[in-house]
Amino acid sequence: MQPRCVFGRTTVSTSGVIDTSDSVLRWGLPRLRDLPWRQTRDPWAILVSEVMLQQTQALRVIPKWQQFMTSFPTPRDCAAASLGDVLRLWLGLGYPRRARNLHAAATEITALGRFPSNLEGLLALPGIGPYTARAILAFAFETDAAVVETNIGRVLARVAGHRLTSKQAQAAADSALPVGQSWAWNQCLMDLGAVLCRPTSPSCECCPLAVRCAWRGSGADPAVGSAGVSTRQPRFDGSDRQARGKLLKALADGPVRYERLTGVMECDAARAERLADNLERDGLVVRRGRALQLP
Ligand code: ADE
Repeated sequence: MQPRCVFGRTTVSTSGVIDTSDSVLRWGLPRLRDLPWRQTRDPWAILVSEVMLQQTQALRVIPKWQQFMTSFPTPRDCAAASLGDVLRLWLGLGYPRRARNLHAAATEITALGRFPSNLEGLLALPGIGPYTARAILAFAFETDAAVVETNIGRVLARVAGHRLTSKQAQAAADSALPVGQSWAWNQCLMDLGAVLCRPTSPSCECCPLAVRCAWRGSGADPAVGSAGVSTRQPRFDGSDRQARGKLLKALADGPVRYERLTGVMECDAARAERLADNLERDGLVVRRGRALQLP
């Protein structure tokens, strides 16, 4: 089913102002959150920010992004570093496969000699999926591309009044996008989701989309289980993710011998070895004799 244009039709008034998305832009632009990656159009800087933002909150990303951009200001700088150096910088952000993919993308971009600037070229980079590719198009190249991250996914489902498949969510986002306003529109809609259309206790009373919203905060939330909308992260304390993080943190200071694994990871030997094997399979640690080290 082709979704109708969820935010109405886009029309351009004689003054050149886009009308239907006007209310969102008028709400959003004066309040845009001051996030450092919004001050640049450098595709590498945008890629790094989007990868970091995938599973980490914006406020925690800011200092890491700044450190990362100081250490690796270009894909070439990142590609020239070892994956271990990138992982060291990544410590504390979690989900370290993201760092590995970023390092692989930097290597590929450096080999290409230019940053891909269309959807196909971006999707061909390692670890770059439809969301990140469109985010780079919108936020770096300012070409017309609609992004569906967790905040926008939530807004789209609530406005539509029902759960959306990823195809429907992307189609709804595409049809809402005001031509030529991709950068501002996506940022404003993201902030609207983060600030007003929150996962719980949304502020529908001051939402510029309330008049067109099928949900408006009452009844079952259509965003639950809808495409692109993240679910709560599983418990961290006592998790495999936490134990792997402890090992990577120790490895940042130097190799760890197998005998020390249980102490470092604070778990039993079978679990420690299984998790170390996972990390090795993911290319995040390497084995040297009886010790593990960063790649
Ligand atoms: N989450 C993902 N991309 C983002 C962006 N550009 N600004 C704020 N939060 C985001």
